[in-house]
Amino acid sequence: MNQNILNMKPSGIRRFTALAKATPGCKMLTIGEPDFDTPAPIREAAARAMESGLTHYAPNRGTDSLRKAIADYETKRGMECTAENILVTVGATGALNTALTGILNPGDEVIIPIPAFPLYESITVAAGAKPVFLDLTKTGFQITKEALEAVITPKTRAIILNSPNNPTGCVLSESSLDLVAESAQKHDFYIICDNVYAALSAEKVPDLTLRPALRSRCILCQSFSKPWAMTGWRLGWLAAPAALIDKFTLLQAAQIASVPTFLQKAAETALQVDVAGMAAVYRKRREYVCARLDRMGLAYPKPEGAFYVFPDISRFGLRSEEFCIRLIEEGGLAAVPGSCFGVEGHIRLSYCYSDEELRESLDRLERFIRSL
Ligand SMILES: Cc1ncc(COP(=O)(O)O)c(C=O)c1O
Repeated sequence: MNQNILNMKPSGIRRFTALAKATPGCKMLTIGEPDFDTPAPIREAAARAMESGLTHYAPNRGTDSLRKAIADYETKRGMECTAENILVTVGATGALNTALTGILNPGDEVIIPIPAFPLYESITVAAGAKPVFLDLTKTGFQITKEALEAVITPKTRAIILNSPNNPTGCVLSESSLDLVAESAQKHDFYIICDNVYAALSAEKVPDLTLRPALRSRCILCQSFSKPWAMTGWRLGWLAAPAALIDKFTLLQAAQIASVPTFLQKAAETALQVDVAGMAAVYRKRREYVCARLDRMGLAYPKPEGAFYVFPDISRFGLRSEEFCIRLIEEGGLAAVPGSCFGVEGHIRLSYCYSDEELRESLDRLERFIRSL
């Protein structure tokens, strides 16, 4: 076996979901995927595309028409680009894989602000590089100059930003981003922006991909999964300088050849579908979950996007994993321990569930913490 692969860890999120499923009657707030079905116009476009014979290989970098549609979408959003800047990928997972594998050499370092989606660590380790964690739990889930400078070394090749964040729902402020921009320019490293939750936010999220001065070092990883409820379609994209996209295309050709052709056609339709309705539902659920946590006296960093809340459980004196195991066994509810995202003292609750499921689950959480 490749030693790097032996160093990879299994997903704790899936482990806790499996534990909940194996426990009769257990509710869960573990899953980070929309409970909506993919909107009908997108499903119909895929069926039509398949029937019309779009069943042959697509170009390695994606079809011309989808890359152009994505470039127009990004340009409209404020990141001016053309189809030359776009690679169609297998979800944001594919985009992150291609971007990180494409830029990293063994021994390079990648700064990962934590709490973080565990995939960043996995890919970095698989690439033979070293994850360097920047703990944001002591700095209000924002980046400070001292903390950032303390983790930069001559081997730093990239930082990965995820805003709105999984697992906290927090958004990085302009001043956090200013610090990253300044350091990246000074020490010459890439900024990988995992913006998979940005399209679901009502307000404009501060975003380094919108700054022209950073264009040469920003790599945007984006997904159809979350905004358009298309997790199972495995579609995303990567936006970066054209010279990088040319090289990443060689890598993608070796990894997956290309993304299914008829799905790319349907993705063009997705880009036309307004997601404001779904975003409004998530916002309402977020307000409900936060109000319930307030009533329970559980503190949490203020979520402004994604579909997660990250309550502080440190006062119970239990490690997050122990808290979550007891919550399943004694409280009949599954949540994901903060340790799965690299930090202690918190649990992640997802609100990708119906109002009824949320109400019952939060009743159970309330009863459980009263019992502690
Ligand atoms: C922060 C973050 N990035 C990337 C992904 C991967 O998304 P995709 O389905 O596009 O591969 C997820 C999925 O949960 C995520 O939460």
